[in-house]
Amino acid sequence: MTAPSVSLRHELLDLLACPDDGTSLNGWDGITEQGFLTCGGCGRAYPVIDGLPRLLPQAMEEAPPSIGGGGGHEFAQKRQEMAARDAQVAMYDSNLPLRLFSLPEIPLTLHYLWLEPDVLMLEGGCGTGRMTAAFAARVRGLICIDFSAASLQAARAKLSPELAAKVLFVQADLCHLPLLSDAFDRVGSFQVLEHLPTADARERAVAELTRVLQARARGGRLALSAYRWGPPLSWGAQKEGHHEGGIPFFRSTWTELSRLVAPHIAVEQHTCALLYHYLLWGRKV
Ligand SMILES: C[S@@+](CC[C@H](N)C(=O)[O-])C[C@H]1O[C@@H](n2cnc3c(N)ncnc32)[C@H](O)[C@@H]1O
Ligand SMILES: [Zn+2]
Repeated sequence: MTAPSVSLRHELLDLLACPDDGTSLNGWDGITEQGFLTCGGCGRAYPVIDGLPRLLPQAMEEAPPSIGGGGGHEFAQKRQEMAARDAQVAMYDSNLPLRLFSLPEIPLTLHYLWLEPDVLMLEGGCGTGRMTAAFAARVRGLICIDFSAASLQAARAKLSPELAAKVLFVQADLCHLPLLSDAFDRVGSFQVLEHLPTADARERAVAELTRVLQARARGGRLALSAYRWGPPLSWGAQKEGHHEGGIPFFRSTWTELSRLVAPHIAVEQHTCALLYHYLLWGRKV
């Protein structure tokens, strides 16, 4: 790894924090594949396994997966989805309708994010990296979080060495981001919010994504997308339910989505031009 990417690696590492108490973490060099990051507050040692810091909140580590794909405690439902996402990596990557949808979706998303070569970005819920290379190519540094370790490994494997040197992948929960506040010039989260299992969890995810975003005065800009509820998708479809493997979903009307984000995001623009989802960009309130 070249000298500039080592210093970027340290810059990205310095943005990590304990998901339970927000204290800085020390230990791992950001380069070796195995290690530990230890919290200076609670003392918990978070493992780094195969290059991925595992920064899940304690309560999530302890929750059993919910049985039967539905209901149960929020963390149990998340554990259920984590297991399903781990198992469905190959299926997600070979989903032809999603690949076709990506053709207009990724340029539109890039337009809303307005990436620039000097920015630091967070991708919340990067999945298998469908969009990650497009982001990494346009920014100075990128942290990608997801709670599916197998998805993160798939995303990492898709990057060229040059792009991989700019990106830190971290296993984390969107509702308990292991990141310092006001740290990122850009925050993006695409096709993730609709999978948070409760209204309360969706609200906390938006609160967390905006907590780590730079203020409006410092140029912070956030873009996100979520499943849309409205014609023609509402004809014969389900507003909420579970996909295969117990993955929860919730389709929002614009009124529901704008109410959800309003306490945290001043929306500048939104579109449902691609029908399937709403895409919006805005600033921290
Ligand atoms: C439909 S995929 C979208 C992935 C990627 N953004 C894309 O557009 O292809 C949703 C992703 O969100 C992740 N996810 C869902 N809930 C999460 C949570 N609470 N914390 C972290 N990741 C979560 C899932 O593991 C999955 O990878
Ligand atoms: Zn701690």
